[in-house]
Amino acid sequence: MSGTKTSFLLTGATGYIGGAILARFLAHPKAHTFQFTVLVRDPAKAEKFEALGVKAVVGSHSDAHLVEKLASEADVVIAAADCDDLGAATATLAGLRKRHALGVVPIFINTSGTGVISDEAKGAFAGDLVYDDSDVKQIQSIAPTQMHRNVDLAITEADVEGYVKTYIVLPSTIYGIATGQFVDAGIQNPHSLQIPALISAALDRGRAGMVGEGKNLWPNVEIHELADLYAILYDNIVENADLGHGWNGFYFGASGEHSLLDVGKAIGEALVALGKSDNPEPTTFSQEELGKYFGGSYLGSNSRCRATRSLSIGWKPTKTTSDMLASIRPEVEALIHKKAKVAA
Ligand SMILES: *[C@@H]1O[C@H](CO)[C@@H](O)[C@H](O)[C@H]1NC(C)=O
Repeated sequence: MSGTKTSFLLTGATGYIGGAILARFLAHPKAHTFQFTVLVRDPAKAEKFEALGVKAVVGSHSDAHLVEKLASEADVVIAAADCDDLGAATATLAGLRKRHALGVVPIFINTSGTGVISDEAKGAFAGDLVYDDSDVKQIQSIAPTQMHRNVDLAITEADVEGYVKTYIVLPSTIYGIATGQFVDAGIQNPHSLQIPALISAALDRGRAGMVGEGKNLWPNVEIHELADLYAILYDNIVENADLGHGWNGFYFGASGEHSLLDVGKAIGEALVALGKSDNPEPTTFSQEELGKYFGGSYLGSNSRCRATRSLSIGWKPTKTTSDMLASIRPEVEALIHKKAKVAA
């Protein structure tokens, strides 16, 4: 640790997840001992972070040299940039290897996603395979060809090598409009990806949609409760020398489960209530629509998990699938409002 403060590097701070994590850590009882550096592309946003007391470096996650340098100066790296970029992982690990040479075993918490356990259901069925984050053999059995997996493997291998302790958080469908100081300052995206993308498509076609029959299942987690998981994980890492890492450091972020049909119906009902559709029943997206709205997409897949390990460290999410469904109407309203503003 540098002096009495712990130095953190956070990537993705202007994003939905990263901003929520940062707000959560700055509200931590030990926040006065944390020195956060964030990496942001936009100089104007960097200035606003600085004004809020967060050290901000202007640059890109794909600048390997810069990422390596910043990681080499950090005791803890928390990565929340959605990039699916092996380069960013390699550069981060190279920096952490240098940090280790100074006699510290640095901590690397990366954000992956339950997309890594998704199948090819295309909405046709509810899968019965459920992954458990505390079942190491099962986590090890995930195919290297799965989404995110090449990066997760590279990171876990670094832990096995021993110069860094790695932890991988795998959020599911994250929902809810993020709040907090960085959203208020206009420097954090308050919206998730998956559900807003479905809403946007539904508004465009005047009807809620789904992949196939929408029978496929995905877990869900509320954004602020997900941010809690990172903070609780960090506390456990610091306080419990026996806490597992590497292969024993996978944490699912999931507290409910829904079918794509459930989400489609909730979107359809909100559309009808807001005068944007005359029928609440979702219809199947055509191949063409899937390409146009989602660039192919895994939305029709099953991704089923149990967050046993996350719960075992004291994470206590209270939100359920009904909270997720209730979050849809405000999300539809926000998007209608945004589109009206763009059109004006
Ligand atoms: C974190 O993991 C995700 C998913 O595998 C990957 O896209 C991202 O590049 C990783 N970030 C870093 C800094 O390793």
